[in-house]
Amino acid sequence: MAVVIRTTEVTDDPRLRDLLDAGELERVQRRENPHPFITAHALLRRLVADETGVDPRQLEFEKRCATCGTDRHGKPHVAGMRDIHVSVSYGEHMAVAVVTNIGEVGVDVEDLESADFDGFASVTLDASEAAHLDGLDGDALLGARALLWARKEAILKATGHGLVVDPSQVVVSAPDAPAALVEWKAREHPPGPTQVGDIDLGREDHRAAVAVLTSRPITVRVQRG
Ligand SMILES: CC(C)(COP(=O)(O)OP(=O)(O)OC[C@H]1O[C@@H](n2cnc3c(N)ncnc32)[C@H](O)[C@@H]1OP(=O)(O)O)[C@@H](O)C(=O)NCCC(=O)NCCS
Repeated sequence: MAVVIRTTEVTDDPRLRDLLDAGELERVQRRENPHPFITAHALLRRLVADETGVDPRQLEFEKRCATCGTDRHGKPHVAGMRDIHVSVSYGEHMAVAVVTNIGEVGVDVEDLESADFDGFASVTLDASEAAHLDGLDGDALLGARALLWARKEAILKATGHGLVVDPSQVVVSAPDAPAALVEWKAREHPPGPTQVGDIDLGREDHRAAVAVLTSRPITVRVQRG
């Protein structure tokens, strides 16, 4: 199996709810805007179903927190499919899901608006990364910030740490260079060989990235919805 990525715009299609299980539907009720969650989890179910041949409604997702060990939150995985790795990310407008059997995987999508705040660099970037953004402004700056942020978060979702690890300690390549993990400065155990790729969403107001923990060559297939 390649690294298979599926992207879609968030929709209010009522049929998507039918794909979710009781636990997911319960979580939907707690959301002011349920559509991003429903779109993303339906997308993940359909993607895994298409790649494994299992009915999307029969899939069971479990979680495991790399920090505290609970199964109430943390990185998702498919019950009974130890070799299948998944990740999902969503915001108000876009959802992205990934499945692969190559290694632990993480995906992240970011809206340019979410990178539009003072202090972005000090919160999220290493000094070497901040230097890459010198001279950029407007959407070019926001796009570069969102891309670096997506690469970092994809890596931290692949490792299962999430933002328990300070993202400024996960140094990625310059925005105009091929995506890569350049240096792991965090005190948590480094992930080993990590491959990172940018995802072309076909729209200018978001950036997205995927990370796979492997040294094996990977083939990435992107299916835009
Ligand atoms: C992972 C994380 C960065 C994602 O945040 P986000 O940008 O708001 O959300 P995204 O849409 O990109 O991703 C959400 C999905 O990430 C996944 N996810 C959650 N925690 C994860 C983790 N530790 N590793 C990998 N994936 C994780 C879930 O599938 C989640 O979807 P769901 O909540 O609908 O089930 C953030 O939730 C985080 O840092 N979580 C870890 C917090 C933690 O572990 N605290 C310590 C508890 S002891």
